[in-house]
Order: sequence, then C-alpha cells, then structure tokens
Amino acid sequence: MPIHSLTSHTTILLFLLLLISSPITKTIAENSHVINFYSPNLYPESLAWDPTKQHFLVGSLRHRTISSISDAGIVETLISDTSLPENVTVEGITVDSRNNRVLAVIHAVKPLPPFNALAAYDLKSGNRIFLSALPANEEEALANDVAADYNGNAYVTNSIGNYIWKVNAKGEASIFSKSPRFTEHSVDPDTLYSFIGLNGIAYVSSGDYLLVVQSNTGKLFKVDADDGTARHVLISKDLTYPDGVVLRSDGVVLVVSPQVNKLWLLKSNNGWGEGVVYDEIDLESEGYPTSVVSRGRDKMYVLYGYFMEGLLGNSEREGFRIEEIRSPKESEGENVWLYVMIGFGMVYFVYWRFQMGQLVKSMNKKIN
Ligand SMILES: *[C@@H]1O[C@H](CO)[C@@H](O)[C@H](O)[C@H]1NC(C)=O
Repeated sequence: MPIHSLTSHTTILLFLLLLISSPITKTIAENSHVINFYSPNLYPESLAWDPTKQHFLVGSLRHRTISSISDAGIVETLISDTSLPENVTVEGITVDSRNNRVLAVIHAVKPLPPFNALAAYDLKSGNRIFLSALPANEEEALANDVAADYNGNAYVTNSIGNYIWKVNAKGEASIFSKSPRFTEHSVDPDTLYSFIGLNGIAYVSSGDYLLVVQSNTGKLFKVDADDGTARHVLISKDLTYPDGVVLRSDGVVLVVSPQVNKLWLLKSNNGWGEGVVYDEIDLESEGYPTSVVSRGRDKMYVLYGYFMEGLLGNSEREGFRIEEIRSPKESEGENVWLYVMIGFGMVYFVYWRFQMGQLVKSMNKKIN
C-alpha cells in the first residue's frame, strides 16, 4: 500500500474519532439521574440508601414517618410512628443492613417540649424495636445525625451540647464522647446557625472510628469508636457549614452544605490524620441540600428536601427531589482513560496497516 494512502486514512480516522468523542464527554457530564417525588409537606431532612431493597429512605419534618422513594419517584410510607410526640422531626436516619433495621434520630424542634431520642425499626415489618431517650442532664440538646458500627451500636451527634451519644444494640443510651476537642475552636456568634455544632457523622469500619463534622466551625474530627477520644483532622481548607457526611465505598468522604450549596469530596492517605478536599461541586441553590448518600460503588445522591422552608413554616409544598451528583473531576479522569484507550487503538490500527503494507510489498516482490 502506498504511504500517502495510509496517511490519508489515518487523518480521516482521527477526524471521525474527534467527532465521536466530543458527544461522549457531554453525555458523561449531563446525564445524571433526577428523582422527583411528591408527598404533601413531607419536608425531609435526611436521606439513606437501602442496598437490599434498592430504594432510598427519607424522614420528615413533622409527619413522624420514614418513607421509601423508588428510582421512579414512587413514595411509600414504610414506617409511621404515631406513638411519638406530635410534630416531632425524624432527623438523621441510617440503614443497619446487618441487623435489618433502620435507625432514626427523633428531635422536637422548639417551641415543642424537649424530646431527643433514637428509634430503631425493623426494615421488613416497620415495627419499632426500641425508642431510647438520649440523656442530656437538663441541658438543651439537639439530637441530629446517626451512624452505626458493625456491632449494632449507634452514634448520635448532639449539635447544641457538642458531644456524641452511643446507643448499643439493645437500645441502652449513654453519653459517649464529650471531648475538649469539640469546643476548642472559636465560633462566630453572629452567624445564622452558630448554635449548631457537631452534625454529620460516618463510621469507618476499617479503622473502627467515626468522622464527624462541626457546622459552626467547619471542622472535621476523628473519634475512636472504642473509647471516644477525638482528634481534629487537618484538612486542606475549612468547610463552610458542613451538614451531612457519608463514606463512599472507595474511602472518599462526601460532605454536603445546605448553606453554601456545595458537595465536597475528601480524601486521606493516612487514615484521616489529615485530609484534602480534592473536589468541590456546586449544588443547586434551591432546595436546601442537607443530606448525601453513596449508592453502590461510587454513585452519589443528594436530597433537596426544602427543610428550611418547612422549618420557617407557613408554606405548603408537595414536590421534593433526590439528584445524582457527578464529580466533573472524576468524570474527567474517566474521559482521560477513554482518550488513552482510543489512542492505543489508533496506534495499534496504524501499526497493523503498516505491517499489512509491508506484507503486501514483500508478497509483491516475491510474485514479481
Ligand atoms: C402540630 O402541628 C399542627 C399543624 O401545624 C398544629 O395544628 C398542632 O397544634 C401541632 N401540635 C403540637 C403539639 O404542637
């Protein structure tokens, strides 16, 4: 084969590949999954993923319910606990798959009489397993989020008291970690939610510790799940009003903020002695994204529950949504691999054509 024809073939091929590969990049960036669901005045603050039933779970500001949300946006009330005091909020929820139950933090928002508890419900029947009052020694408390370890223990943050309760598998509650680390950073008292301290919590099984964020300081703490000792985790930048926290199966920690509408992706290479914020994703400014979950290996979903609108009262809303969030940085990484693979394919193709050329030439020589 003459060499000029080989080059023109390659040029055409290159052109075609460029044409094909640019729409691929676009699909990766845009085609994320949005689940709109409808339930009058549900105003959920918390989101969980049930890997067994393959659906989401959400709490509610005042309904005393936990509902499941399917990928198609079908809402079913899974748990309705009318024995709880009227109008209490289902705050943080988490699925404890090993024990086939869902754990829910229950808190009464002022001016309701104080009420802070952890409830456990059977995931199949919806029956309540226990309801444990969280001890607060007459002090004001705000039970907020929950994480479960692999032995059935639950850890609940107290945002006002700045400490962590532990509730064991039998439902026995105690104050677990009241580390001085939690109160050594200054708080600007003029900021809007300056009274909200410890908030989102996640359990890291590989090292048996908890990661906890503090909303009013933007700090992250690593708390030993055995003895409750805490360390401040140095991160490359302070987070602004971090709320929900979740651990992705690849070890990346996801933190969401409804105040600045961001999702941060954090990594550590030394077991959370230090960490880096390696991606910061802008979320939609409407909907107050309080909670994030990880689904499967690395999918991320955020809840837009309009919780603040509900808290402020006097409004009615039927529609809420759960949205898949993709990291442009991580998709970029995927695209790089795509290009590398296309590149390899091209080199191989050109090489193959060249060899064929040589073969044809030598065969021609032999024939002549
Ligand atoms: C609960 O909320 C409803 C509707 O807002 C209200 O009518 C009722 O008085 C509330 N109950 C309590 C105990 O605050």
